[in-house]
Amino acid sequence: MRLVTRRLIIREIKKSDVKDIVRNANNLNVSRYLLKVPYPYRRRDAESWVAMCIKESKEKPRANYQMAIELKSEKRFIGVISLTHVDRFQGTGRIGFWLGEDYWGQGIMSEAIEAVLKFGFEKLKLRRINWNAFVENKASNALARKFGFVFEGRRRKSLRSKATGRVHDDNLRGLLIEEWKKKQR
Ligand SMILES: CC(C)(COP(=O)(O)OP(=O)(O)OC[C@H]1O[C@@H](n2cnc3c(N)ncnc32)[C@H](O)[C@@H]1OP(=O)(O)O)[C@@H](O)C(=O)NCCC(=O)NCCS
Repeated sequence: MRLVTRRLIIREIKKSDVKDIVRNANNLNVSRYLLKVPYPYRRRDAESWVAMCIKESKEKPRANYQMAIELKSEKRFIGVISLTHVDRFQGTGRIGFWLGEDYWGQGIMSEAIEAVLKFGFEKLKLRRINWNAFVENKASNALARKFGFVFEGRRRKSLRSKATGRVHDDNLRGLLIEEWKKKQR
């Protein structure tokens, strides 16, 4: 799978990304709001995650799209955007993402999300995309609102960050294909 936007190439994760994954993920500012990224983040963590992504990319039907965000101008991995738990019968999937701190605040994730929502709704024909974020995660919650994800509830003490060990409440949101289509006009 490969999506091209103005500044980005969204593509499969490769073994050669390991160094850049470690460089960007070994940062508590990135991992404190993530579920499964340990801190410190070492080469072996990246290697086993890359192996898992490659394995998942070959599954049929494919349930997990973990994609590298590559910046065209640097020709290197700078972050991840994923559609996971894709269930063709249910018509649902879950979006997730992170970006190296050096690249924050430039609209990069907005650009990536726009492309992945189009992929999910048009190519995978999903009916609904799920989003969840720790309640404290201002950037993720702001992004969800910007893309029209509807707040559907707050789960108490629902998730734990691997990096910090802290337990968080999380906000649940969803976007339906008809809501997404309305925003395209
Ligand atoms: C969340 C994250 C991917 C945002 O990436 P980004 O490329 O900086 O996001 P954008 O530049 O596209 O900004 C998106 C919107 O969020 C808002 N935003 C970004 N950072 C913010 C912050 N720290 N506080 C409040 N709002 C913020 C911006 O105002 C922007 O809205 P606008 O386009 O209307 O101005 C990045 O901060 C990150 O990787 N964080 C750590 C990992 C993480 O939290 N992942 C999500 C887990 S649910």
